[in-house]
This record gives sequence, structure tokens and C-alpha cells, in this order.
Amino acid sequence: MRVRLNGIEIAYTDEGQGPALLLVHGFPLSRGAWSRQVEVFKKNYRVIAPDLRGLGESEATVGAVAMSRFAEDLHALIQRLDAGPVILAGHSMGGYVALAFAKAYPQMLQKLVLVGTRAGADTPETAAARRATAEKVRVEGASVVVEAMAPKMLAASNKDENMAAAVRNLMSPSKPEGVIGALLGMAERPDAQAWLGEIRVPTLVITGADDTLIPPSESEVLAKGIPGAQLKLIPKAGHLVAFEQAEVFNDFLLAFLA
Ligand code: MLT
Repeated sequence: MRVRLNGIEIAYTDEGQGPALLLVHGFPLSRGAWSRQVEVFKKNYRVIAPDLRGLGESEATVGAVAMSRFAEDLHALIQRLDAGPVILAGHSMGGYVALAFAKAYPQMLQKLVLVGTRAGADTPETAAARRATAEKVRVEGASVVVEAMAPKMLAASNKDENMAAAVRNLMSPSKPEGVIGALLGMAERPDAQAWLGEIRVPTLVITGADDTLIPPSESEVLAKGIPGAQLKLIPKAGHLVAFEQAEVFNDFLLAFLA
């Protein structure tokens, strides 16, 4: 489905009925990254999964897209769909966005699920590398990022070629301007660590044990910082844990939501 809001067209999935479960994908992915959750949770939840501005099938804008901007888009979407307060799950960059949402719209949040993500800002070196990558995308296109990221999404021990191809497909619709906008936005994102203690909703932190892009130690920091947060580590899973080990992931999420 598609809707126009905040000056752009956003593509999204909206399936099922019940409490609203808003699923926010990572970089440079798209809402299909949550397909294995949509099919299960739509039986008891209203599952809403947008493509973030500039990624997947959503329209891109020129320039950096701050995490708070993505959060504004989410807020506008749930207002438009008359959904919420939401259970918000964010993966990786989607987790940065989820934290920005939690800060800006605490009244719209029922529960929080942070997947393979972190609270800290970029180091100056990481931020500089992101800006350099953005420049490369400008010249060579989004495939630069897709080629670099695709092999890092799954556990190194995972030799499932069909799954690897599916992961690549989740990234292929990304537009160069969208990829650049997200890279520049991530490079300038604020450090969330100082205010994690203000999060007042039940929170689940989940990570793949074999995530090399955002190591499990980052999830430990999140779980320690957020009052009462639960932490789950999923074996044989890399960065894209909800896709790679969907059954185990879904069991943890179902138990948390019950
Ligand atoms: C993601 O998967 O969203 C990215 O790896 C996040 C990042 O680059 O920090």
C-alpha cells in the first residue's frame, strides 16, 4: 500500500487486526526484511511495516535524513492509519529510528523491541567512513553499498544461498539518494545512551550471537541502560536475525508480547 505524507510517498504493509505492531527495517533494507514476522503476527496483531524514506519502494528526498525525520514519518503514518500507541520493533538503523521515536513520542509507544542495534553515536572515524561511502554511492550507485553489506547480513556459518539471494533482493530497490540520505543521517545521529534510563515501556533487546556488523555487546549496553529490559541472544544468527532465525525470533517476541 502507499500513502502520501510529509511530502513523500511511503510504501507500507498493513495486515491483520489487534494491537498495532510497527516493524522498522534496517539499512539498506526494506520492509520485506520482516516478511517472516508479518505472516505470523498478523494472526493476532495489526502489523504495519513501512519502507523508510528513500529505501525500498518509498520515495527519496535529497540530503541527510535524520533519525528523527524517519521517526516523524513513522508518527505521521500511524496517525494516518489511526493506529497506536504501537509496539515498536526496530532493526539496526530501524533501532536508531525506534529510539528517536521513543524520545519524541513516548505517549505513542506501548512496548519497544530493539533488534541488532545500538544506542551510541558514530565515532568520528565511522561517521567519516559513512560520508565517504555516500560520496561513492553518488558516483557509482547504490550497488556499492549493497555489495558491501549483503555478505555481512547473515552468520558466517550460514551457507544457504537461497537465503543470501533473498537478502540481496531486500536491498535491491534502494535508491542512491535514499542510501545517501540514510548514510548521512546515521553519521549525524545523536548518542542515545544518556537518556535510555527514561524509557518507561517494557523493552526487549534481541541480537544474533554471530552479528559482526553490530556485535552483541552493543545489545548488552542497551539492555543495561533501559530499566527492566530483557535481553535475548539468538545462536547461529548474524545481523539480520529476525529473517535468518525467524522461528526462534518469533517465539521470543510472542513470549514478550503475551
Ligand atoms: C543497518 O543494518 O541498519 C546498519 O548496519 C546500521 C549501521 O550501519 O549502523
